[in-house]
This record gives sequence, C-alpha cells and structure tokens, in this order.
Amino acid sequence: VPRVFSGMQPTSDSLHLGNYLGALRQWVAVQEDHDAFYCVVDLHAITVEVDPRVLRERTRRTAAQYLAAGVDPARSVVFVQSHAPEHAQLAWVLGCLTGFGEASRMTQFKDKSARGGAERSSVGLFTYPVLQAADILLYDADLVPVGEDQRQHLELTRDLAQRFNSRFGRTFVVPQAYILGGTAKIMDLQEPTAKMSKSAASPAGLVDLLDDPKVVAKRIRSAVTDTERDIRFDPEAKPGVSNLLGILAAFTGTTPQAAAEGYAGRGYGDLKADVADAVLAELQPFQERFTALLADPAELDRLLAAGAARAREVSAATLARVHDRVGFLPAA
Ligand code: TYM
Repeated sequence: VPRVFSGMQPTSDSLHLGNYLGALRQWVAVQEDHDAFYCVVDLHAITVEVDPRVLRERTRRTAAQYLAAGVDPARSVVFVQSHAPEHAQLAWVLGCLTGFGEASRMTQFKDKSARGGAERSSVGLFTYPVLQAADILLYDADLVPVGEDQRQHLELTRDLAQRFNSRFGRTFVVPQAYILGGTAKIMDLQEPTAKMSKSAASPAGLVDLLDDPKVVAKRIRSAVTDTERDIRFDPEAKPGVSNLLGILAAFTGTTPQAAAEGYAGRGYGDLKADVADAVLAELQPFQERFTALLADPAELDRLLAAGAARAREVSAATLARVHDRVGFLPAA
C-alpha cells in the first residue's frame, strides 16, 4: 500500500480555507487507499516566537481539526511531531547534506525572513525545509498532499533523498508532491493576487474554518471582485471572481468553468451568496465535530499518544537504517 505523509503547523487557533482546500481535504480522500501519516508539526511552529501555552492549545486544536475534517484515526496515524524525536534527529543528518546556498534559495525563508528582518530570523527558520524533508523521508512516503506554496520544499526533499541514496546506498523513497490544480492556491479575499495566509495584513481576506458562520458569510460578501459585471473564470483578468468560482467549484464538486455557467445575467451578489452557502454547508458540521472533540482533551491526548506510538514504529526503524548507513557506531 502506498504511503502518504503531510503536516500543518499549529500556528493559529483555526485553520483557514486555503489549508482546508489545498491540503486537508486531500488528506481525507487519500487515506482511503494509502497508509497515511498526518502530523501536527510543532517543531516547525517554534521557528518563530510563540507563547508556550498558546502553542500547546493550538497543537490540540490543530489535531482536532484534522479529525473534524474526516481524518480517521483508526485508519490514519495522527500524531504530534515532537512526540517522535526521530524527526529532529534525522533533520540533523540531512542538514549536513544540504548546501548553505541551496537552503538560502528557499523562497519561503526569503519571504518570512524579509518580513521580520533577516538578521533577527532564527537558524531554525533557515533549516525549516530540512526538518520538513526529515518528516517525509522518515515514513518512506510516496505522496505528499500539500498546497502550491510547498512545491519548492518538496523538490528539496526529493533532492536530499536522491543525494543520500547515491552517497550511502538506497535508503529513502523519493517522494512526490500531490498538488491538486484547482485548489492548490486559494487567494486572499481582499487581495486576490496573494495567497490566503495566516500572516495576511488583514483578517478580512481570510476565512477561518472555526469562524462564526455570520463572520464567514460577511467575509465572502465583502470579497474584492472587479468593476465588470460578468461572471467568468479568468484568473489573470478577474482574480477575485475566479477565486470565488474556484472555492464554489471545490465545495460543489465541479470545475470553476462549469460553476460560472449558471450565472448568465446574474450579479456578483448572487455568486457570493452561493459561495457562502456552499462553504457553510460543510463548515457547520465540521465546527460541531470540532467542538465535541475539544470538549474531551484527555481523549484527544490519548489518541495522539497512540498515534505517536504507531509513528515511532516506522520512524525509529528508518533512523536506525540511516545511522547505520552514515557510519555511526551502534550503542552497545
Ligand atoms: P502550513 O501549516 O503553513 O500549511 C498547511 C498546508 O496548507 C497549504 N496551504 C494552502 N493551500 C492552498 N491555498 C492556500 N492559500 C494555502 N495556504 C496554505 C500548505 O501548502 C500546506 O499544505 N511546511 C508545511 C508544513 C509541513 C509539512 C511537512 C507538509 C511540515 N512538514 C511535511 C508536508 C510534509 C506548511 O507550510 O504548513
């Protein structure tokens, strides 16, 4: 059975529509015919400053959102990255195979460090993609469902796997990114040429999965469109309208082009109302499941502990293989 690995950072109280359509929904779909490992990547979350109490709470909330979306813990392994120390251990080894220049070319690092000032960025932020490669390679993942913004990190992961294999003998599976065309880059509702992101300038461009339904409807109603009136899918000329059509299509199981067809003679207000309805039809039951899961944190923690135990069966074996290959003396 092919393997899948993916993860999200517990860096906010709620995931947003981009996380959901770009990644989480695919996780739920592929768990049907893959051995799946879904991780809450708390080690990645501390690459920027975060309050410890907030991090702990967000780690639980992120895990609960995986489950609320339909990740089935009986089928898929759901766990917290810091519970499997092999992630940090393999990251060290891979870091020693990564070129300084190679890491310097990662656009996510360049963007994030530019925002806070490169001088003040942590070394952890710089080596973030190496840790991500370790996450994936530990589980011999064939497929990694992510959004478009992760393409470069996946390329680095493949390069590192191939480099290790050619230097030390075949050790890692060379994974493939699984990036779905239609929903791989959900745009900010206020600034539809930028991707929807937790670090956006204004929350008005974001739809959080756990937002109050009234807020969700309002954000969609206030989405920036353009001064024309016709509804057609044309991301270049009409980024705002096309983003809404993409979201509508994703929730109604069609293509953005087909979604546009019903709107001849109708206005943007109609489109926005339909988008809000389609989004909320899926979010409301999601929110109910989330609330129920979070009401029992002890059960959630038990589930995560069981997930970590299953994850470590795989990660410990891979790390042992790696240590052997690179020539570490076994502890007697
Ligand atoms: P994170 O938490 O920043 O993002 C989680 C997932 O959401 C996707 N995503 C989007 N997809 C479509 N449109 C958007 N606007 C949008 N914004 C975010 C991201 O592509 C991602 O799939 N580096 C990863 C976390 C990670 C990881 C891994 C992923 C750590 N180790 C191993 C896969 C495998 C990240 O950016 O998470």
